[in-house]
Amino acid sequence: MPIPAYSRSCQCRVRPSNWPQMNKRFYITTAIDYVNGQPHLGHAYEKVITDVIARARRSFGQEAFFLTGLDEHGQKVQQAAQSEGKQPQAYCDELAAQWQAFIVKLGIANDDFVRTTQPRHKAVVQAMLNKLHARGDLYKAPYRGWYSWKEETFLTEKDRRPDGTFDPSWGEVKELVEENWYFRMAKHQPWLIEFIEANPAFVQPDSRRNEVLGFLKSRTLEDLCISRPAARLNWGIPLPFDLDYVNYVWFDALSNYYSVPVALGDAEAAAPLNGFYKPTNSQPSTLNPQLRLWPADIHVIGKDIVRFHAVYWPIMLKAAGIPLPKQVLVHGWWQKDGQKMSKTTGNVVDPIGVINEWGVDAFRFYVLRELDIGPDGNWTDAGFKSRYQAELANGLGNLVNRSLSMLKRYRNGVVPARSDELALEATKVVAETRSLLEQNQLQAVLQTIWSLVARANQYVDQTAPFKLAKDPAQAKRLDEVLYNLAEVCRVLAVLLWPFLPGTAAKIYAQLALKETPDKFAAATWGLLSAGHTIGEPAPLFPRKDV
Ligand code: MSP
Repeated sequence: MPIPAYSRSCQCRVRPSNWPQMNKRFYITTAIDYVNGQPHLGHAYEKVITDVIARARRSFGQEAFFLTGLDEHGQKVQQAAQSEGKQPQAYCDELAAQWQAFIVKLGIANDDFVRTTQPRHKAVVQAMLNKLHARGDLYKAPYRGWYSWKEETFLTEKDRRPDGTFDPSWGEVKELVEENWYFRMAKHQPWLIEFIEANPAFVQPDSRRNEVLGFLKSRTLEDLCISRPAARLNWGIPLPFDLDYVNYVWFDALSNYYSVPVALGDAEAAAPLNGFYKPTNSQPSTLNPQLRLWPADIHVIGKDIVRFHAVYWPIMLKAAGIPLPKQVLVHGWWQKDGQKMSKTTGNVVDPIGVINEWGVDAFRFYVLRELDIGPDGNWTDAGFKSRYQAELANGLGNLVNRSLSMLKRYRNGVVPARSDELALEATKVVAETRSLLEQNQLQAVLQTIWSLVARANQYVDQTAPFKLAKDPAQAKRLDEVLYNLAEVCRVLAVLLWPFLPGTAAKIYAQLALKETPDKFAAATWGLLSAGHTIGEPAPLFPRKDV
């Protein structure tokens, strides 16, 4: 049997083994962004793919919980706040408001927004630290590193220039030794290798899984430094067993995925922390007590932070007796015009600017259609415009507009008797969409959906309803064609809802259907009733002079 085009181009992604599971909410997360960073295309992409996966599960009738948020502690935040003469919390609050507005702009339907400065998060981090300390997993030892006195921060190997020196902008850089707290790592290496080998779904795509295994097999893991002296850095969560220190950021940041379920009252999630955790009660629980949240089903992250999620995070959890997440799903990085995006070269893509000009669904469509989850992507303005014009305006937009306009013109907007001429083709696309969505193959779903768009546009050209309308003897044939077209538009709205929720809702509104197209079951052919009167057609994606 020939392999469909999309499976040749995509690396096959394995479903998390618990899909779908009773008594468990589908729980998906994004990385939490550095609060002092500038929201850009990369952040937007990660949130959009996560949103589509979460919406797809909801559309299948599963209860899904989507968490995103902000990473707010650390030296850089403390320094930036200081330089603006602000308290770090006030500084973070201002930036957090911008990030939350960014999420709204992207059409993201998240269920919660975590900030690592929230008391609910801190309480769980401190409980985890206390448990690990009580079990003897943490110890204090001298930390040796290259310290920039000017920037008040340790530098890493990544900060070195190709010739091995540090940029003069760091000021004087000297080797410094200070006591810190460490987390014992090496004893965890054997089980983690075995676990990742036995669970191909844990890190996806496979190329990333191999990378993690290669890393784990090629060295002995160094113990992880999890503290900084409070005298030097106080913008962090205090180590509850040694108040001279604060928790160093990655331990704090990774814990957000687990702290929120615990804080929201997932009793099973909290059980491993019995005796260590005191709820802050800062938020009343909104969870259905019948449905557990933890473990996370999918952590969506970018390729630069795989090691933290696929090595340190599972070790932290296992050491604390907490069940591991089901999957770390790794996406690639976006470039602009073949170059790393950077403010200095000015080649950044500003998602908000694009959305203001072209609409949020045009932005979502381009990033989802252009880049499969895994490889790196390249944004070009010409590519964006060309997809907008060809696939949105001339493809989907034209199909819906001419189908509904003809129904309006020739039949006064009244849906004729059911006809099944396109039923088989539509039903095949519906089945493929479902299966690809279950494997998070989002780009392939759009390819398959657009095969139906193309087929329906071809059907208009082949059946030529504008000619049929001129011949009264062809009235029955015209009815058939108009039903098939209107019904394809309706089915497309349901399939598109996770990707382009606004567009899907517009199609339903133009069809004068009262429901929201957010239930996959509604993609069943033939649900559009004869005799129903549709609403006013209007262009979905106005053509632009480009
Ligand atoms: N705060 C840490 C993550 C902690 S998660 C427990 C962090 N923040 S970040 O703001 O730098 O990055 C957030 C996410 O955006 C990461 O998954 C990162 O890979 C992603 N991206 C940042 N730049 C990107 C591109 N140019 N392209 C695609 N995604 C990129 O790391």
